Amino acid sequence: MDIKEAIKERHSVRQYKDEPIPEELVSKLEGLIAECNEESGLHMQLILDDPECFKTFLSHYGAFTNVKNYIAIVGPKIYPNLEELGGYYGQKVVLVAQMMGLNTCWVGGTFRRGKCKAKLEVHDKLVCVIAIGYGETGGKKHKSKPLEKHCKIPVEDMPLWFRNGVTAARMAPTAVNQQKFTIELDGEEAVITAGRGIMTKIDLGIVKYNFEAASGHKCR
Ligand SMILES: Cc1cc2nc3c(=O)[nH]c(=O)nc-3n(C[C@H](O)[C@H](O)[C@H](O)COP(=O)(O)O)c2cc1C
Repeated sequence: MDIKEAIKERHSVRQYKDEPIPEELVSKLEGLIAECNEESGLHMQLILDDPECFKTFLSHYGAFTNVKNYIAIVGPKIYPNLEELGGYYGQKVVLVAQMMGLNTCWVGGTFRRGKCKAKLEVHDKLVCVIAIGYGETGGKKHKSKPLEKHCKIPVEDMPLWFRNGVTAARMAPTAVNQQKFTIELDGEEAVITAGRGIMTKIDLGIVKYNFEAASGHKCR
């Protein structure tokens, strides 16, 4: 599976099998997380075998079952772009996990923050978590807003790389599936902007990562 397939195949999964992540994959994920932390200044952490964080948590989304592993998105509070950075690097890990045959779900609200086992330095903030493991199913495709809600450029006028990026951006997970982002072209550069809503800055980082991974072009 390549990264474009991973973007397409990834859906939120909330029900997991009682199956641990093999050690070999754990060490690859830990290596990747360490690299991302080094590059970004974040303190993301993979927490294994900790069911407390998701235990008996019911929400209007439906219950999470058997979540025992998660990635805590943590970073310094003083970073003005902490949420976006967390979204960007978290999605990088999510897509690698997908390519490894694992499933995930971004979770900003329906988990027990107080039970999260991530280690926080004095100036750190826990942005959100990502459930990870072997899903009971692979999840299903979300309903996407019409393309015009995101981008004013007609499809036929889009350069191919830009079109690929927009397609991948529309497949990105967003909080409550709000999809509040717009994409423009400024000369040769794509510019992605977050709309108003809850956690739209985390969404922005996720959407930018999807766009860049599929288009091969950095965006702003
Ligand atoms: C920043 C963020 C926060 C989220 N928080 C939650 C949450 O608290 N509970 C939950 O069940 N799903 C949560 N989700 C998952 C979204 O509901 C899901 O991504 C969206 O409905 C799109 O579906 P998809 O991920 O299958 O494409 C969150 C997603 C994102 C990106």
